[in-house]
Amino acid sequence: MNKIAIVTGATGQDGSYLSELLLDKGYTVVGLRRRSSSEKGLERIEHLLNNDNFKLVEADITDSGCVNSLISEYMPHEVYNLAAQSHVGTSFKQPSYTSQVNLQGPINFLEAIRLLSPSTKFYQASTSEMFGKNYEVFADTKYQKETTPFVPQSPYAVAKLAAHEMVRIYRDSYELFACCGILFNHESERRGENFVTRKITKWIGEFVASGQDEDFPALRLGNLDAHRDWGHAQDYVDAMYLMLQQDEPEDYVIATSETHSVREFLTEAFNEIGISNFEPHVVIDPEFYRPCEVDWLLGHTGKARQQLGWRPKVSFPELVQRMVRSDIDAARKEKLERSSLQELEETS
Ligand code: NAP
Ligand code: GDD
Repeated sequence: MNKIAIVTGATGQDGSYLSELLLDKGYTVVGLRRRSSSEKGLERIEHLLNNDNFKLVEADITDSGCVNSLISEYMPHEVYNLAAQSHVGTSFKQPSYTSQVNLQGPINFLEAIRLLSPSTKFYQASTSEMFGKNYEVFADTKYQKETTPFVPQSPYAVAKLAAHEMVRIYRDSYELFACCGILFNHESERRGENFVTRKITKWIGEFVASGQDEDFPALRLGNLDAHRDWGHAQDYVDAMYLMLQQDEPEDYVIATSETHSVREFLTEAFNEIGISNFEPHVVIDPEFYRPCEVDWLLGHTGKARQQLGWRPKVSFPELVQRMVRSDIDAARKEKLERSSLQELEETS
């Protein structure tokens, strides 16, 4: 019989890649989606919907009764809790909601597993945002690793840190196999459009499809000096899976160990379309500044490399190239579809 995994946030970036990975490994995947008033929102998993081993189930992780029912119905071997209000900027505007999803959600799963299915293994999506302003220094390099103290800088990070600590408490108190991946930023062609990398590459795609129109509206961004350790999401879901296959449940930092500023991302992305100076195309807009910023993230991945044998495969230039090319293709396709429709309307 197939192993069963519940993946929360299956419609999101990581959930879609992780579901693919688990299906490839022969799992039955129960992917959760929250209720929506429309059928939109399934774009990332459309290709999985006809797979007999993929079951899409409507559920909200903030509802403890709903989570209990899921655990008792499926008695899964593994639960990957990826669902979250995942936007740091939004968390300043919706702190209570963010805490409800990002903290109460994981508590609901930990309780359900403790009471109904204690042999279920649990993965929690923790984040480098928990380090906030803090870092360690070695040979002039500022970095974060598993033991670096957390100093969160946003309601998002506070809720994620509380969930992270809750996982430790359940692991120590009840001997659950529960662990956290402290993942640094990871992006992809499927990244949400209001995260900075995708916002940039989507703009470039539309700009190219416009024929690099001089009147094309500028790209409006906030702080360009923040540094992030950016990897590709497909590499990172491998690490989630590996963590649940270990003998002991432990937390791991997952990152590329290379950091770049938003400005460097912009330079690399504009270079892809032959523009060496992005500045005439970008407007700095205070709306996109955070009340509190995380300036520097650079992950030290010695533990994951040694214990999990994990390494990132996609480099920073390849990540940027893949995202830019994918958005150019998508924008050109959309433009073509729009003009065919217009032609049809004019001729009929
Ligand atoms: P994402 O694309 O924003 O996906 C979030 C998912 O959570 C979506 O499927 C969303 O559903 C679902 N969701 C939100 N609220 C829910 C609720 N109340 N009940 C059920 N589902 C709900 O995020 P991601 O980039 O894949 O990240 C996955 C996880 O890793 C998140 O927990 C995030 O905080 C964490 N993380 C991400 C990164 C990163 O750089 N990507 C780094 C560290 C940690 P809809 O599709 O309906 O919106
Ligand atoms: N979103 C966004 N939009 N960010 C901008 C913009 C803009 O217009 N302009 C500048 N930035 C800066 C932000 O201030 C931040 O310093 C950096 O770009 C990255 O922002 P995001 O792409 O929104 O990602 P994040 O680092 O805040 O959060 C992501 O990574 C975390 C892991 O460190 C999310 O995926 C979180 O869910 C994840 O936990």
